[in-house]
Amino acid sequence: MSSQLPELTPVCDDDDLRSGQLVRALIPEGPVLVVRDEDGVIRAVDDTCTHAEISLADGFVEGRTVECWAHGARFDLATGAALTLPASEPLRVREVLVHAGTIYIRSTDTGSGLD
Ligand code: FES
Repeated sequence: MSSQLPELTPVCDDDDLRSGQLVRALIPEGPVLVVRDEDGVIRAVDDTCTHAEISLADGFVEGRTVECWAHGARFDLATGAALTLPASEPLRVREVLVHAGTIYIRSTDTGSGLD
């Protein structure tokens, strides 16, 4: 019916996101966790831990992973994979774009053929 264009949600200024800092942003599909990893790469995954559905924004970043503060599950920020129990389901990875000094998250499904 209608062709929906990819929607970009601004998160924060690129200069304001420090290495290891966790930022929670809200896109139309729900909350997203935005992180600049130790290599300087900005990553975004869904913010809800797949173990017990709580926010990962109070967790801990180490390298390219985030650890849930509640029970210690660790996720790969690049792939979303659950690396340790008690989580076994992956987080969804979101596309990050930086334009004119602002970080954006693309909120539509990947592979939609809209690019
Ligand atoms: S809620 Fe995240 S590991 Fe349990």
